[in-house]
Amino acid sequence: MAIPNLQVALDHNRIEDALKDALAVGNEVDIIEAGTILLLNEGDKAIKCLRSAFPDKVIIADTKCADAGTTVAKNVALAGADWMTVICCATIPTMEAANKEVKSLQVELYGDWTFEQAQQWRDAGIDQAIFHQSRDALFAGATWTESDLNKIRRLIEMGFKVSATGGLTKDTLKVFEGIPIYTFIAGRGIYATENPAQSAREFKEEIKRIWG
Ligand code: 5RP
Repeated sequence: MAIPNLQVALDHNRIEDALKDALAVGNEVDIIEAGTILLLNEGDKAIKCLRSAFPDKVIIADTKCADAGTTVAKNVALAGADWMTVICCATIPTMEAANKEVKSLQVELYGDWTFEQAQQWRDAGIDQAIFHQSRDALFAGATWTESDLNKIRRLIEMGFKVSATGGLTKDTLKVFEGIPIYTFIAGRGIYATENPAQSAREFKEEIKRIWG
């Protein structure tokens, strides 16, 4: 089983704070994400700063795009993003349009979606999905369940590279043991700790311990 990637999600309000943490952890992680919160506040400047600081890293624009796929994807690609996200309720034409403009498109799974839709995403040439425990659901007491893990397994069987995210800490990773997760995405579990670089290293060590 391949060793899952580690992605840091920069959900800061201001680019200065995001960049400070990106510089601290960038070399510890595999993938850097300009988070939705950061993009909404700072726009494509956030992607440009991250690209100029990390010319060789995979950079993701977590746009959670719902419409205007071509324009949004062209804009983030022009700013330097490799991949971007679309929300699972976006139409297939929106996803197909966005997918033409970026190196890879990821469907963010929130709320209600079906495996029939998931097959349509696969048929549209999309091979990445993000299984998400929403921040608000977690605040309301949600947690990872066997039903979530079974959905992840089924998506992987369908050919998706599946990322898992939502309030992850290094101690949550063992819940996914035995599942070939493509990438773990962690935000606050890295940047909101006392020593973000050390936390990123601990995530990596735990991933290697479980999947290595
Ligand atoms: C929120 C997101 C976050 O970037 C992602 O869930 C990681 O954040 P955290 O680890 O802090 O929950 O996409 O919409």
